[in-house]
Amino acid sequence: MILQGKKGVIFGALDHQSIAWKVAERCVQHGAQIVLTNAPVALRMGAVKELAEQCKAPLIPADATSVEDLENLFRQSTEHFGGKVDFVLHSIGMSVNVRKNRPYTDLNYEWMLKTFDVSAISFHKTMQTLWKLDAINDWGSIVALSYIAAQRVFPDYSEMAESKALLESFARSFGYHFGVAKKVRVNTISQSPTMTTAGQGIKGFREFFEYANKMSPLGNAPAEACADYCVVLFSDLTRYVTMQNLYHDGGFSSMGMSPALISP
Ligand SMILES: NC(=O)c1ccc[n+]([C@@H]2O[C@H](COP(=O)([O-])OP(=O)(O)OC[C@H]3O[C@@H](n4cnc5c(N)ncnc54)[C@H](O)[C@@H]3O)[C@@H](O)[C@H]2O)c1
Repeated sequence: MILQGKKGVIFGALDHQSIAWKVAERCVQHGAQIVLTNAPVALRMGAVKELAEQCKAPLIPADATSVEDLENLFRQSTEHFGGKVDFVLHSIGMSVNVRKNRPYTDLNYEWMLKTFDVSAISFHKTMQTLWKLDAINDWGSIVALSYIAAQRVFPDYSEMAESKALLESFARSFGYHFGVAKKVRVNTISQSPTMTTAGQGIKGFREFFEYANKMSPLGNAPAEACADYCVVLFSDLTRYVTMQNLYHDGGFSSMGMSPALISP
């Protein structure tokens, strides 16, 4: 029960496969109170109401690209909790060019801006809203989910690679300001490929999932294990970890070659 007494807002639970879904369940198991949020359209389509009931959590719609929605979300959340929040999970990703199968050498720039707004700038907007409303407690913890395509080339990940690079940079830059002012830490977790709606939207995902699984000495990290890692980062056991991109990938990021991938 390492989150006993803590209060958090969790973005991005869409269905049972969502990483945020597992994080919500684990946070509650560890004693936290949570608020769940997602884009209005996702709340209409998704199964998240079921999770809200299970977690006894209010469900507050917010398009994470809308500052007005974010202000409303954190105002309502602090009212519900009767105080500020202690942790926030940003678990949001979407690429318009990937969805529409545009090759990387022929990207539509309007769509690219939308991708950056949803997948990365929304993280800055979330933190700036928390900052301006003074809605997070001292020694709080903010986590966003990232992917190693921010550092290395994975061609089918397309403009999501740049989105993740931007996301990780926002974590460092805002982590400085939050650290100095409020001892709040900001980190990104760089997660293994995971079978979710967002993950499976990437071309050749299944084959790539198997490749990464073989390349990683521990195998791909499942969503449930990612949730455990988030819980630890939200807890008081990691109070001096900040401005980091933390690999949660079974060792993939340190590998060069694996005999498991060379056929006999
Ligand atoms: N699945 C993977 O292989 C993998 C690997 C590394 C990192 N990640 C990251 O994990 C995070 C969660 O993705 P997931 O794999 O659980 O998939 P998911 O599809 O379950 O979650 C993505 C979420 O983003 C939400 N979203 C989209 N647009 C939004 C908006 N405008 N406002 C608010 N929410 C919005 C969706 O409704 C959905 O709930 C993403 O940042 C993703 O890039 C996923």
